[in-house]
Parts: sequence; structure tokens; C-alpha cells
Amino acid sequence: MPVNDNKKSIISILRKSEGTPVSGQEIGEKLGITRAMVWKYIKALRKEGYDVRSSPKTGYILDSCPDKVDPEMLQNILKTSLIGNDVRYYSELESTNSTAREIAPSASEGTVVLAETQKNGRGRMGTEWQSVPGGLWLSLILKPSIPLENLSKVTLVAGIAVANTLRNMGVDAHIKWPNDVLVKGKKICGILTEVSAEIGKVDYVVLGIGINVNVKLPDLKDDIRRDSTSIANEIGKPIDRTSFLASLLYELEQQYIRFKTRQFAEIVDEWINLSDTIGRNVKVTTPIKLIEGKAVGITEKGALVVLDKNNKKHEIIAGNCRYSD
Ligand code: BTN
Repeated sequence: MPVNDNKKSIISILRKSEGTPVSGQEIGEKLGITRAMVWKYIKALRKEGYDVRSSPKTGYILDSCPDKVDPEMLQNILKTSLIGNDVRYYSELESTNSTAREIAPSASEGTVVLAETQKNGRGRMGTEWQSVPGGLWLSLILKPSIPLENLSKVTLVAGIAVANTLRNMGVDAHIKWPNDVLVKGKKICGILTEVSAEIGKVDYVVLGIGINVNVKLPDLKDDIRRDSTSIANEIGKPIDRTSFLASLLYELEQQYIRFKTRQFAEIVDEWINLSDTIGRNVKVTTPIKLIEGKAVGITEKGALVVLDKNNKKHEIIAGNCRYSD
């Protein structure tokens, strides 16, 4: 059996034993290798960050695993039928969105590209997205058959999915238009939607989602840290990112199915319920102008409605939003 398979099997045996020691003899018999080989693999696993306790009398116990997403475990626990059928997992990438865009033409809908860290993570409006270890940096390839003008709806749908996943675990998440997820006013997730379209019809959408799951806030640059939080920071301990990812992909699939099968008004209602923006005074910068006023709603097309001081209504499909209250 290849080295990696042996290491995976040892981890799986120790996980299943749930803290009961397993002897080198027993592991060796299961894998058809000697006790000395088992010991060699255990030492290699320790180097990779697995905390394996050993006692000559009782055997090995797995105390903790490194904080890495486990793609194999993900497939075992994933409850989706489309999203995550194909997961491309990398230790490091320039940007998951860039890789997803490269593979999108030949990839099937629902493919997920995931990296433990990104060297060149991209945010909206050409900003840098700091992608340190402990976060979930992923891009989802979708191929909805929708006109290009409906693209912003997909971003709203993704925001709902992220906010719901966080709320299901007791984190009080709200959405800031168009696509930031905040907890107590601090950013926990950003979404970057990119598209390829022809003759006004969407070819594929790359939905880039960055979530500060177990990110250690001191690892973030000062100006980013000031306005950021993480799940670990909110609940007081790191969480299992593989289980969180499985819940997120499930919620994304539920929302995507609803988007394709139900009236958008239903989604608008839920978005408004989760919104941090509606009712606030905002300054929205679009590529052509700055609009100041009160955010009062979302249209059927997914645009933000802002009422300016002259009571003039502006429908904004894309832009950068700041609060002015
Ligand atoms: C923003 O709020 O500015 C959007 C941030 C989006 C970050 C994610 S991380 C995964 C994916 N890959 C990227 O390069 N960016 C997105």
C-alpha cells in the first residue's frame, strides 16, 4: 500500500477507536505491515501535526488532528447531491477563484475549489483578500441558465447560505449589501462573484467565498483586523472546518435549489430579514457615481433601493457600500 494510504488508514483506525488505545500489533495486522513500520508512520504523522500519544503497554491514541480540511471525510459526511460532488483540494493556490475560472469550462456544475491558503486571494473592487491558515477559502462553479442581469441574485443567495450556516451554529450573522457577512458589525465572510457570459447569457459563475473560520485575528494586517472577526473568536474555540464546510455546502445547495425553483420574492424576503443594511443611511459608490441616502429595499432584480434626500429612488445593481450612520 502506498505510504499515504497507510498513514490515512492509521488515522482512520485511531479515529474510530475514539480515545481507546490501539496497539501497534493490532494496527500492523490490519494493514499487513510490521509494528516497526507502524511506529515509522506514527512519527511521520506527528511531524504533520497529528498529536498521537503512545504508551508501550496500551498502544496509540489520537489526541488531535491538524487544523486541515479533510476532503475524504468531507465526502463521507456531505449531504448534497450536486454541490461538492467534485472537490479540488489544494494546500496552497494563488487564488481559488482564478483556478476555478481556469477549470470552469470543462468542470461540472457544483465543483468546489478549496485551498488552505492563498498567495494572491482577491477581494471585490481589486482589493487583496488576506488568506491565512485557518480560514475557508473556496470557489464554487455554478452553471445556472439565467440572463446576465440576474447575476447579483446569485450573490444574494450565497450571502443567505453563509449567514444561515453561521446562525445554525449560534453565531449572530447579518448580511451587509451586497455580500459581506458581519457579526456584531465585524466582517466574518466576503463573497466575490465572477462570471463568464456570452450574448447576455451566463456561461458559468464562480462564487468565491472566504470565511474567517479559525483564523487567528492577530495574523491579520492591522487595518483588516480592526473590522474583522472569526467564528473561533465569536464562539471562543476553534471548530472542525470539515464539518462546517459540509454544512455550508448543504446550505448553499438548498438556497440554490430554491433560487432555481421558487419566486425570487421569497429570497428577497429572507435576505431583508438577515440584512444589516436595510434601514441604514448609506453611501454607495458605483463605477459611475456616488449615491447617498437610506437603504430601503431590494428589487425583483436583486438591486439595492436607496432613497436620497430628495426622495428620489435609486436602484443599484453593483457597488461598494459604506454606512454613514
Ligand atoms: C470581498 O469581500 O472583498 C470578497 C472576498 C472574497 C474572498 C474569497 S476567498 C476564496 C475566493 N478566492 C479569491 O481569490 N477570493 C475569494
